Amino acid sequence: MTLAEVDASAWAELEGATADPQSAFRYLNLCSVDAGGRPQARMVVLRRADAARRSLEIHTDVRSPKWQEISANPSVAILGFGPQPRVQLRLQGSAELYGPASQRAAEAWSLLPPSTRRTYMGGPPGDDIEEWPASEGTVADADGRAFFGVLIFRAETLDWFQLRHADNRRAVFAYDNLGALTSSRWVHP
Ligand SMILES: Cc1cc2nc3c(=O)[nH]c(=O)nc-3n(C[C@H](O)[C@H](O)[C@H](O)COP(=O)(O)O)c2cc1C
Repeated sequence: MTLAEVDASAWAELEGATADPQSAFRYLNLCSVDAGGRPQARMVVLRRADAARRSLEIHTDVRSPKWQEISANPSVAILGFGPQPRVQLRLQGSAELYGPASQRAAEAWSLLPPSTRRTYMGGPPGDDIEEWPASEGTVADADGRAFFGVLIFRAETLDWFQLRHADNRRAVFAYDNLGALTSSRWVHP
């Protein structure tokens, strides 16, 4: 594969993952930095990928610690691993946050199934819980809408690593703020 093909294949995998629940890249590790400078990692669902803009869309609760962390420091990393072929995608970039009042959140919310909307109806993520509700809530969808936020990740670099038997491969790519590829090179794994 050429460098251009590696870059294209990585983004094709990410785009494909948004439509394929079986894809390994459907679930990614989103890493932020908290107020104390500590790394914070958690799994998230990849909702949308735009290969041309080098952006990824993630949904979350605006009351969650990650939302607060990223509001204060938009520098984030995304990590994924696909077993077939064995490829690690390590993306570094920044996140833009679109809160409940934004058009972007309104559009994304309108496309969510009721089961997903329900995940935003509980108490603030991370708060203590006294008792699990007996059944699925009877609260209206609108109650979750107020806590629903969209995170758009824009990649600045992609570190691609392929684990092979003897000859691992690694390549590093950089993008400008419109998503155009500005550099690509093979590096020692
Ligand atoms: C497979 C998987 C997918 C998840 N997807 C999301 C998601 O898309 N958005 C989200 O906010 N949390 C998601 N979570 C929960 C987060 O990993 C995390 O526990 C939660 O959002 C609280 O994170 P925070 O305290 O860093 O804000 C997911 C968890 C798992 C195990």
